[in-house]
Amino acid sequence: MDITQLVQDITARLRQESERGQVADYIPPLACIAPDKFGIAVVLDDGSLHCAGDADEPFSIQSISKVFALTLALGSVGDQLWNRVGREPSGSAFNSIVQLESEHGIPRNPFINAGAIVVTDVLLGHLEPREAIGQMLRFVRELAGDDTILIDESVARAEQETGFTNMALANYMRAFGNVHGDVAKVLGTYFHFCALAMSCRQLAMAGRFLMDEGRVEGRRIVTGRRARRINALMMSCGHYDNSGDFAYRIGLPGKSGVGGGILCVAPGVASIAVWSPGLNASGNSHLGQRALEMLVQRTGWSVF
Ligand code: DON
Repeated sequence: MDITQLVQDITARLRQESERGQVADYIPPLACIAPDKFGIAVVLDDGSLHCAGDADEPFSIQSISKVFALTLALGSVGDQLWNRVGREPSGSAFNSIVQLESEHGIPRNPFINAGAIVVTDVLLGHLEPREAIGQMLRFVRELAGDDTILIDESVARAEQETGFTNMALANYMRAFGNVHGDVAKVLGTYFHFCALAMSCRQLAMAGRFLMDEGRVEGRRIVTGRRARRINALMMSCGHYDNSGDFAYRIGLPGKSGVGGGILCVAPGVASIAVWSPGLNASGNSHLGQRALEMLVQRTGWSVF
């Protein structure tokens, strides 16, 4: 199948859509992004890259960074991480606080905000914020094979200024003893992770280790078992309270962000990134999901 032609067809079809969802406006710099942006990049297991639309324009990856943070934290403390974060879908909004009260400050999974804040706290167990942010930047650059990836400081600053719900989550978990470090340092680091700016091309390249049993171009990043488990979490929890619907419609592990990006993995076959800034009610890219749905319908890449 001609994947380049396919991603071009999908882009042409979706460019005509009038229903694009709502661009996130609770982080001010994201509110200024043009809603008609659309990009897609597919890296196949043979290393070939297939791009269309705005695939080279960097956007704020936001919660997609939670995949890379989880990978680093598992590398740092291994399965001990699961004493502090669960592995169940939350069925709640990405920034929900409600379950923390009855569940003793243990977030349901590492892909909701509360879970990613604990993951960040774990990474700060032996690092200063500056070092943890540098480690993250080096990691995504290595995964993508691209030294030009940057953190957008204006996005990190805006999140710092408006992130009252995240402050509530972090302080609440601190009260339960499940955030150990200084709350301001943990959040400052978390906001910088969310503010990573990457293009679809860079993101699809960075997802290759999840496609290829933990390897990138023969180099081992994580064990095959760990890559499979991260994919399992992306499948069950990667789209918040919309994860069941994503599994039903697309049938692949995926992780979304409120910047409108989705990283999606067809294990052994492809690493895919899509970007369209308009979001559905759960904070996931509306046309990004449509694009993935069209892609799997045509390729049969669903794992089911
Ligand atoms: O913490 C926040 O609210 C954002 N930095 C990240 C949220 C996000 O991407 C959730 N995704 N759909």
